[in-house]
Amino acid sequence: MMPRTKLLQTLDSKVVEPPPVWLMRQAGRYLPEYRELRARTGSFWTMCMTPELAVEITLQPIRRFGFDAAIIFSDILVVPFALGREVTFEEHIGPKLQRCASVDELVMDAAVWDARLGPVYEAISVVRGKLGRETELLGFAGAPWTLASYMVEGGGSADQKAAKLWGYRDPQGFTRLLDVLERCIAEHLIGQLKAGAGAVQIFDSWAAGLPDRIFEEWVIAPTRRVVEQVRSAVPGAKIIGFPRCATQRGYEKFARETGVDAVSLDTAISMQWALEQLPGNVAIQGNLDPLALVAGGTALDAAVDEILSAMHGRPFIFNLGHGVVPETPVENVSQLVERVRRAR
Ligand code: CP3
Repeated sequence: MMPRTKLLQTLDSKVVEPPPVWLMRQAGRYLPEYRELRARTGSFWTMCMTPELAVEITLQPIRRFGFDAAIIFSDILVVPFALGREVTFEEHIGPKLQRCASVDELVMDAAVWDARLGPVYEAISVVRGKLGRETELLGFAGAPWTLASYMVEGGGSADQKAAKLWGYRDPQGFTRLLDVLERCIAEHLIGQLKAGAGAVQIFDSWAAGLPDRIFEEWVIAPTRRVVEQVRSAVPGAKIIGFPRCATQRGYEKFARETGVDAVSLDTAISMQWALEQLPGNVAIQGNLDPLALVAGGTALDAAVDEILSAMHGRPFIFNLGHGVVPETPVENVSQLVERVRRAR
C-alpha cells in the first residue's frame, strides 16, 4: 500500500509534526505566473473549464512553495453551471448568476452535467499523475446553503437577503432546493474523488449570521447528508468542512454532528478555544489572518508561531482563515511555509 500523505494522516486523526500546510486560494492573482496566464487566456471561467489550463494553474503554487496539498483550480459555482444556470465573472464585481426562483427551473440533464463538469474531473486525473506521492490533491464544492444563496441572489451579497426570505416564507420550496443541491454537490464530490482527489473540502462561505435553529436546518443537516452520500459511494472518503464565520457554538455542533474529518476555522476563532472545545478526533484546519500574510515580517512570524504552539500535539492542518488575497507578496508565502516546516 502507498504510504498516506501527511494531509491524509492528519485527517485520520494522527498528529503530524510539523503539520501539513496548504492555503485556500493558493493559486490565483498574487502569483505573477497566474496573472500572466490569465492575461493570455482572457477569462477566469475559461481557465476553470479548460483542463490543460486548470492543471497548470493548480501546479503553479506547488512548484513555487511545495505545499503539502494542491487544490484543484475550479470554483464552487461550477455546480450551478452544471444545473444549467448561466454564470459569468465580471472584473472587480465578482460572479453573476441567472437568478433562481424555483427548483423547477434547474436543468437535470446528464449530458449538460458531463459537458460542464467533465473538464474538472479530467484536470484532476491529469494533476494527480503530475504530483509527487507526498503531495495530496484536494477536490471541493460549495455547501448547499452557500450555493443556494448565490443562485437565489444572482451573485454574492452582504446579507443573503433573498435566500433567507425565500427560506422563511416558503420553507418547503426552499428545502426542496437544498435537497437537490445536496445530491448534486455529493455527486460532484464523488466525481472528484473517483477522478483522483484524495480528500475534499466543502465551503460554506455564508454560514455567518444564521439563527441557531436555521443554522441547524440549512448548514448542519444538509452538510451531514452530503457527507453521508459521499461516504456511501466512496467508503472512508476524507472530508473537510468550512462553515465560515459560524459562531463558536455553530462550529462545535458542526464538528460533532456533520461527520466531517476536519473543520476549517476562520480567523476570528481562538485556537485555544478550539483545542479545548472541539472533539479531539476531528482535525482542525486554519486560521492565519490573510492580512498577517500580506503584512509579513515579524508580525507574520508571531502569528504563525502562536497558531503552531496552540495546535502542538493536535491533529492539525496549517491554513489561512480565508483565501490568499491578490496583494499578498510571494516572498511572504515562502516565509510562512519555511516557518511552519521549522516547527517540531
Ligand atoms: O483555493 C484555490 O486555490 C482553488 C480554487 C478556488 C477558487 N475559488 C478560484 C477562484 C476555490 C476553492 C474557490 C472557492 C470559492 N469560489 C468560494 C468559497 C471560498 C470563499 O472565498 O469563501 C467562493 C465564495 C467562490 C465564488 C467566487 N469565485 C467569488 C466570490 C469570486 C470573486 C472574488 C474574487 O476573489 O475575485 C470568484 C473568482 C475566483 N475563484 C478567483 C479564483 C482564483 C479569481 C479569479 C480571477 O479574477 O482571476
